Amino acid sequence: MINKKFLLAGRPVGRPISDDDFEYKEEETREINDGELLLENMVIEFQPAQKGWMENISNYVAPLEIGDVMRCSGIARVLDSKSEKFKKGDIVSGQTCWQTHPILNEEDIEIIEDTDMPTAYLGALGGTGLTAYFGVTKISKPNPGDTVIVTGAAGGVGSLAGQIFKIAGCKVYGIAGGKEKCEMLINEFGFDGAIDYKSQDLNESLSKLCPNGADIVYDNVGGRILNDCLLHLALNARIAICGIISRHKTDNMNFGPENYSNLIFKRATMQGFLMLDYMSETASARSKMKKWIEDGKLICKEDLREGFENAPDTLKGLFDGKNKGKQLLKITN
Ligand SMILES: NC(=O)c1ccc[n+]([C@@H]2O[C@H](COP(=O)([O-])OP(=O)(O)OC[C@H]3O[C@@H](n4cnc5c(N)ncnc54)[C@H](OP(=O)(O)O)[C@@H]3O)[C@@H](O)[C@H]2O)c1
Repeated sequence: MINKKFLLAGRPVGRPISDDDFEYKEEETREINDGELLLENMVIEFQPAQKGWMENISNYVAPLEIGDVMRCSGIARVLDSKSEKFKKGDIVSGQTCWQTHPILNEEDIEIIEDTDMPTAYLGALGGTGLTAYFGVTKISKPNPGDTVIVTGAAGGVGSLAGQIFKIAGCKVYGIAGGKEKCEMLINEFGFDGAIDYKSQDLNESLSKLCPNGADIVYDNVGGRILNDCLLHLALNARIAICGIISRHKTDNMNFGPENYSNLIFKRATMQGFLMLDYMSETASARSKMKKWIEDGKLICKEDLREGFENAPDTLKGLFDGKNKGKQLLKITN
């Protein structure tokens, strides 16, 4: 069987990702050993952190070396198994990477029992949903009636975080790029308002939507958008620093939050977090989120592209705001 794969070939530090950062290769799959499984990758997920792994400038995960298969999570079908725990035909999730036929060890995969919603294990019930859930419950600590601003609100994490704040009884305003995304926030996800940062003046719009300031800012983007939000805080505000996708544009790579002095006047707390710190609580978080999905309280919007050859382009698209909700790529049915 032929395994098609994309290897890391370049490090996009201080510049956008380019096609030359990947090398495409085809290779015959090897025999599997005891405890291993041959998989058929079905759907893979994309997240901005992948660019950070390519750059190799953060040290919170194992380094991704030049020549390694590009890292990502995915869901896959078991084609062959030398493990007691999994059988041919099982649907599993794990770090399947950018390849069509991964071979993984039984320790590194998880069975998906809910085969009626397998892709949710890459979105709302996977790392994206858990990031939103823990960022809301552990860092933001919402109270009913709180005013919340979510940045990067139409992406995977932002759209889920906003909905979880709504479930907690907050007033939620989202910031996203473009009219269509802003309408989606209000009409599909139930946000109370939205600001298109590409065409509207952010400061003016925040003053109108949150005249008394925000009790919580859930920030996925950093840079100038975070800086503007810091001018619109209520007393004792909490700012959850989830991500800094704006840094990937070279023009504001080193942009700092000049308005941080407002943290003093508003006695505010700004806290970064990693979803990985709360992995021991995955089961209970997942069961809550699953119930919300089943009850129709949480919509897990997936942006599903198709075709393995489109993996590099799909990743690049995150940094141009091409995705609505969680970005996935279907490799096979
Ligand atoms: N702390 C953690 O443990 C953890 C875990 C997972 C993810 N994260 C972080 O959470 C954030 C969101 O992740 P995600 O998976 O939800 O991302 P996503 O779905 O891929 O969202 C990406 C969105 O970010 C927006 N964006 C891109 N460049 C931007 C810029 N220069 N300024 C403002 N917005 C920009 C775009 O939407 P627009 O069209 O609206 O611009 C794009 O659609 C990322 O920063 C990610 O690294 C953190």
